[in-house]
Formats: sequence, structure tokens, C-alpha cells
Amino acid sequence: MAADSTALPPASAAGVPRHVAIVMDGNGRWARRRFMPRIFGHKYGMETVVRVIDECTRRGVEFLTIYAFSSENWKRPDEEVSGLMNLVLVGVSKYLARLAGNGVRIRVAGDRSAVSDRVRQAWNEAEECTRDNTGLTVTVAFNYGGRWDIVQACKRAIADGVTADQLTEGVLSRHMALAYAPDPDLFIRTGGEVRVSNFLLWQIAYAELYFTDCLWPDFDAAELDKAFAAYASRERRFGAVPAAAPASSQPASA
Ligand code: FPP
Repeated sequence: MAADSTALPPASAAGVPRHVAIVMDGNGRWARRRFMPRIFGHKYGMETVVRVIDECTRRGVEFLTIYAFSSENWKRPDEEVSGLMNLVLVGVSKYLARLAGNGVRIRVAGDRSAVSDRVRQAWNEAEECTRDNTGLTVTVAFNYGGRWDIVQACKRAIADGVTADQLTEGVLSRHMALAYAPDPDLFIRTGGEVRVSNFLLWQIAYAELYFTDCLWPDFDAAELDKAFAAYASRERRFGAVPAAAPASSQPASA
């Protein structure tokens, strides 16, 4: 299905976050409620990913980053881990052409050394095939952890010859896995849990956080609109005082 360009809002639509990061939680519970194995929920979760990519494109989001497999997800039962790895192969063969045709650029963040050759090749193919696209950049965080990212950025900075004196927040940011993207404006977690779970720890320093009980396979355009409405209602201060009030009357606050 090609995106209907006549229905697109302007890329700079007020209140639309440039970069949305999502922890897609609740697939297992969604499946259990249907007396199905957990992987059934992940399969439906994949359909939701494609739907949310379309909806983010329509709303003018520039970057979408999704947590598909964390560094800690290896602790899950073997059957679930292999099911998730297989889903990468299925997803790439089923959806890559369509996403590429819609201008989506796919990037993968995470430690690829630990995944199988087939999965690594599928990710390489997705990145290669979409590298010249200029639409929504979708980063799939796969075998990703925020702490891993900080450590790998430090290692790469050292390998680049950066000295302790030269190391700044900007220099480290340029070595992080998402160096090509602005920091997320909006962090969404579905599934009712209220935690960050080692996702983009460095990058979400000033993201607006949004938590919903909605299970990921049920997350749709209306749920995305609710998240965007919450985001649009927030006053982002980045550590400063509110714009309308005189600085001298405000207590110190982040
Ligand atoms: C967390 O829900 C979800 C995951 C660990 C996997 C997310 C993967 C997908 C949505 C499939 C898309 C995959 C790719 C490769 C793009 P959970 O299983 O922890 O849910 P629960 O808390 O209800 O058990």
C-alpha cells in the first residue's frame, strides 16, 4: 500500500515529534489472552510495526526507533528467541519492498556480532536496499542495550584517538549508535510497565515519556494520536524556566 501523499501533513506540523522511540511491550500477554504461544503476539506485533511506520510517515515524523530485541532478551526461552530471529527474516522478505517503495530508510542499531549470519544478512539487505531513501528513518534496535551503546561509543572514541581532554558530550554523541538522528522527542512504552529497560539511555535525557496500558499488538493510529496529543500538551524546558514567567520567580527545576 503506497502512502497517499495528498493526505500528508507538513513535515513540520506543530506538536509532531521529530523522533519517536518506542518500547513495544505486551506481545506475550496479548497472545496469552488468546491462549496462543508468545511468538503469536510477536507476529502480530510485527504487523503493528508496519502500521505505525505508515502512521508516522503520514504525520511527518522524521525518525522512528523501535526496541525489537534487547541485549537482555537472550534470557528468554530458546523457542522465543529463535522465533524472534526468524521474524526478522520473515519481516524483511514480506515487508522490505513495500517499505522501501514508501521512502522508508531502515537502519539497525545493536551488536550484530552475536546474531546469526542469516539475520545479519537480512539486516544488511534492509539497510542497503533503503540507504538512498529520504523518508522516515526507522531504526530497529536489535540486540541493543543503552549501556552497551555507551560502552561501544567510548571504545570507538578511544579507537579514533580521542583523548580524555577532548572527550565531550558532543564527541561521545557522535560515536553513539544513533549519531545520525536527533535525540528522541517522545518515548512511548506500551504494555503498562513504567520503566525504560535499558533503551536509549544516553539519548532520552530530555525526551517526553508516555506510558500506556495498550498492549503493542493493539496499538493503532488512535493510540498514536493519543501519545502525540500528550506530547503536544507538554512544555519542553530542557532545564530552563518556563518561557512565560520571569526567571526570578521560578524555583530551580529540570
Ligand atoms: C516485548 O513484549 C516485545 C519484544 C521483546 C519483542 C518485540 C518484537 C516485535 C514487536 C516484533 C517486531 C520485530 C522486528 C524484528 C521488527 P513481551 O513479549 O515482553 O510482552 P509481555 O510483557 O506481555 O510478556
